[in-house]
Amino acid sequence: MRVAISTGGGDAPALNAVIRAIVLSSLQRGWEVFGIKRGFGGLLGEPNIVSMDRQSVRGIVHMGGTILGTTNRGNPFHWPQRQSDGQWIEVDRSTEILEAFKQLALDALIAVGGDGTLHIAYDLWKRGLPVVGVPKTIDRDVAGTVITFGFDTAVNTAADALEKLHSTAESHERVMVVEVMGRYAGWIALSSGLSGGADVILMPEIPFDLEKVYKAIRRREASGRRFSIVVVAEGAHPKDGAITVKAQGTAGGVERLGGVVDLVAKAIAENTGKETRALTLGHLLRGGSPSAFDRLLGLRFGAAAVRAVAEEKFGHMVALMSPNMVTVPLEAVMGKPNRVPLDSDSVMAAREMGICLGD
Ligand code: F6P
Repeated sequence: MRVAISTGGGDAPALNAVIRAIVLSSLQRGWEVFGIKRGFGGLLGEPNIVSMDRQSVRGIVHMGGTILGTTNRGNPFHWPQRQSDGQWIEVDRSTEILEAFKQLALDALIAVGGDGTLHIAYDLWKRGLPVVGVPKTIDRDVAGTVITFGFDTAVNTAADALEKLHSTAESHERVMVVEVMGRYAGWIALSSGLSGGADVILMPEIPFDLEKVYKAIRRREASGRRFSIVVVAEGAHPKDGAITVKAQGTAGGVERLGGVVDLVAKAIAENTGKETRALTLGHLLRGGSPSAFDRLLGLRFGAAAVRAVAEEKFGHMVALMSPNMVTVPLEAVMGKPNRVPLDSDSVMAAREMGICLGD
């Protein structure tokens, strides 16, 4: 067997653990393994693929990022191409991917990525590519799996930041508004907000009413708590307003979210009279050494993906259905983001503790 690995979309802590497990379990089976550099793009033009041995994955489990590189502008079905007049257009280069795959005599592809990458993997599988997916996202918004690697590390980083902000918020009697990643799902905001001691948590799943936020801050003020910590997911939006877009998507790319933090901070300052500061944790949440939980999950996902290839479970992704690793048809999870259920235990816990969720 000749197996290839690619990592696509935004990076996430523990991608390297996944790569290591894929390489070692493939070698253990006597297979050859190749790494495709920079997402699916590594199969286009000059193929950018490297043979992987034990040495190539030595000492990488604790490292952030991906040793294979990645891109979120690498959709072969919507490939960005610059015209002679400087304009960008999107072209379908999927046939070239299938040809490159054949030319390199590869037998299977393990595609590690979020919803976008898994969608591409699914479309390539429908066109005959033997592919197994591995779900990856710090946002935890891929359906069909209880959790994705990278999420735990991101939550730890965010909770740590919230905890650090408490002392300065309290000293200055300020409101600190913190934006965290989470396009369609508020898992990071909710989990870090709960564990980092936030007073207000705003998520995409609950369009917020700023009046409720002011009320919560005033209530704290009246009880002598003259500072507040507000966590807002980048995809959160007011109940009668839209998501805040930082930049429109260019050819081959999606729109960039961000900036809701400024809207919320300004409104709080104007309506409560409190001195307010805004900060965005952004890509900090994607960096750093993965937590032990994420390392283990990444290794388990990687090994399970190789098992799935051995069982010819193409068109599937591996998933954690605690305590088991299972395979799920990609078709079943496409375009169905895993959002925080409003009746979930964490949401109930937040409400029961008096944390304002903006509704
Ligand atoms: O991985 C998903 C994510 O973290 C989203 O929460 C965020 O909107 C996006 O990545 C940002 O990605 P980039 O700035 O790298 O394009």
